Amino acid sequence: MSFPPSPTESIDWSNVGFKVRPVNGHVSCTYTLSSGQWTEPEFVTDPFLRIHAMAPGLNYGQQCYEGLKALRNPDDKSIHIFRPDANAKRMQYSAKFVAMPEVPVEVFEKAVNLAVARNAEFVPPHASGASMYIRPLMFGSSAQLGLNPPEEYTFLVFVLPTGVYHGVHPVDCLVLEDFDRAAPHGTGSAKVGGNYAPVLIHSEAARAAGYGITLHLDSKERKYVDEFSTSGFLAIKYGKQEGEKTKLIVADSNNVIKSITSNSVQQIARDFGWEVEVRQIDFEKEIKEFDEVMAAGTAAALVPIKSITRKSTGTEVKFAYGDNNPEGVMKLLTALKGIQSGVNEDKHNWRKQVVEA
Ligand SMILES: Cc1ncc(COP(=O)(O)O)c(C=O)c1O
Repeated sequence: MSFPPSPTESIDWSNVGFKVRPVNGHVSCTYTLSSGQWTEPEFVTDPFLRIHAMAPGLNYGQQCYEGLKALRNPDDKSIHIFRPDANAKRMQYSAKFVAMPEVPVEVFEKAVNLAVARNAEFVPPHASGASMYIRPLMFGSSAQLGLNPPEEYTFLVFVLPTGVYHGVHPVDCLVLEDFDRAAPHGTGSAKVGGNYAPVLIHSEAARAAGYGITLHLDSKERKYVDEFSTSGFLAIKYGKQEGEKTKLIVADSNNVIKSITSNSVQQIARDFGWEVEVRQIDFEKEIKEFDEVMAAGTAAALVPIKSITRKSTGTEVKFAYGDNNPEGVMKLLTALKGIQSGVNEDKHNWRKQVVEA
């Protein structure tokens, strides 16, 4: 049979959603301090793991994870993964924060390829606009009581077919003020699970109050934009005078995840001839001056922000486009998706073709 197989008919591809579904299996590797090496990536069909309950991954949050995507080309006959090398490097960066060994880029890419290849029929058809979400994760996995790094580490790659997380329509945003996601010299820039669970109670309360997304300001001064709880912050200012370029402004901070989606969109904006500024954004001073604001992340790609509310200062900014998708965000999103799905030329060599494994 030729590779890749066609998409399975067991899934309604027009209504994929964002949920965990059964697939053929996942990939697993282990590392021991005594061997100093990762085992060969192995395909495992059982999604349940057998690990000792005293593993530091379960007790001390010694864990990190990643998120990336695979998509089918327009003819459905090849599958590509978007920027796996960038996710591999970010996982190395995160692992260091929690005293775990690095997964070499080649091992990461081999494991991700194996996970997608053996689940290729779950990569959605091109025409659905959906994609396969890839979740690499890693944790301290041997039983250990003392608070020092354990002997064994497990690296896994799970995959699942997904639709679009937030949907492509503008959402209302609330600035979270009762809780700091990241300390000034803390772990905010690492993709470790411990940064995420503490946000849930706040993001769920915001959702119940009608806010589809939540924003964090810097924890020290509560002055500068950090990031959304699940994505990077980008804004657009139109060139209003003759010869003035459209500007993409990206919130920079030491305490945010370096978003690969944001990085890609910055390059696309430069390719359009826009100006790109990566810098601190003073929330109260600048937020009203932006023409468009968006959230950038792998799961949702780009999500336009309809309004931003900060209760303590009574700041409420409503962007002029309201419920309509704004022009600049849509232009970036169309270009990004076009590259990811093989419609547009991949001139920065971001895509890696999945090979049979
Ligand atoms: C807190 C946070 N910020 C930003 C991002 C966006 O990163 P990326 O575009 O690489 O998915 C994510 C998702 O990974 C995230 O969890």
